[in-house]
Amino acid sequence: MLDQSNITIDVHLDNQDPKAVRDEIRAGLLSTPRRLPTKYFYDDRGSALFEQICTLPEYYPTRTEHQLLKTVADDVIARTRAEELVELGSGAATKTRVLLDAMARTNRLRSYVPFDFSESIVRRVAHELVEEYEGLRVHGVVGDFLAHLEHIPRGGRRLVVFLGGTIGNLEPAAAATFLSSVADEMDRGDFFLLGVQLITDVDRLEAAYNDSAGLSAAFNKNMLSVLKVVIGAEFDPDHFDHVARFNQDELQIEMHLRSVCRQVIPIPELELTLRLEEGEEILTEISRKFTRHHVEAMLTRAGFTPLGWYTDPAHLHGLALAQKPSG
Ligand code: AVJ
Repeated sequence: MLDQSNITIDVHLDNQDPKAVRDEIRAGLLSTPRRLPTKYFYDDRGSALFEQICTLPEYYPTRTEHQLLKTVADDVIARTRAEELVELGSGAATKTRVLLDAMARTNRLRSYVPFDFSESIVRRVAHELVEEYEGLRVHGVVGDFLAHLEHIPRGGRRLVVFLGGTIGNLEPAAAATFLSSVADEMDRGDFFLLGVQLITDVDRLEAAYNDSAGLSAAFNKNMLSVLKVVIGAEFDPDHFDHVARFNQDELQIEMHLRSVCRQVIPIPELELTLRLEEGEEILTEISRKFTRHHVEAMLTRAGFTPLGWYTDPAHLHGLALAQKPSG
């Protein structure tokens, strides 16, 4: 039987200032290079497309992290003795179950806090998990993890996780600010587990973002449909190509939408007429790749104490365990 009383969902996206939304998109479209906020990949369709990408042979990060978590979850839970799991960018929470299972095995599992940009996915996950884990309380938060971290509820002994390499979507300065805000929101003694994609050979990296089934292209172009809803912009997806390549200097995959022709796109809500040349690109995502050294330096700068590092045999993915110091 479904016990609704174990579920709380807070939504922070409906009280977003429409002017701030417009200003952010407008500033991005007018910057050099032009860019769009990566979070607009993730409406219901975009979240579903990402889940499908995770099953592709070329897209190795999810599978690798899932396997790695299975190997290390008991160790992480033994070291943290966590009672509450907080997951930033929780998505479909597939890998989450590995950690919840490990917590359940120690009889310490009390609550789960999924934090995601997609309301429907948070609701779905909440309902699935209270069914799957007896007595589990789920307090979902629907929001933008760059803006709404203060809405994370206070909990017991917490493990905060940020998996999949999503930290790589942030520019270095934004990642530093974000990690410091995560640390600020945590209580002293709480733990943090950060999943990062590691630097590997370019062919493998680029294939993961240029799959032969065309799902990465559909995922990238889905942002154009999201922008139709968010700011009423009439982009024609057929007038853009999906482009993803590894930038060796910045150590990041860069995804673009490349205009296939010269086009003029009026966006009345932004008081903007966007003029794109043939071949002009709009950056929709960076996905940075790291080394252990780099990750531990970031964590230390943000005020965490690095406690452990886990990686798969092929060194494709890393999980860094850290703690907010108690003293
Ligand atoms: C969900 C941010 C980890 O950067 O690899 C997948 C998103 N973008 N294919 C990534 C993504 C294109 C993914 N993260």
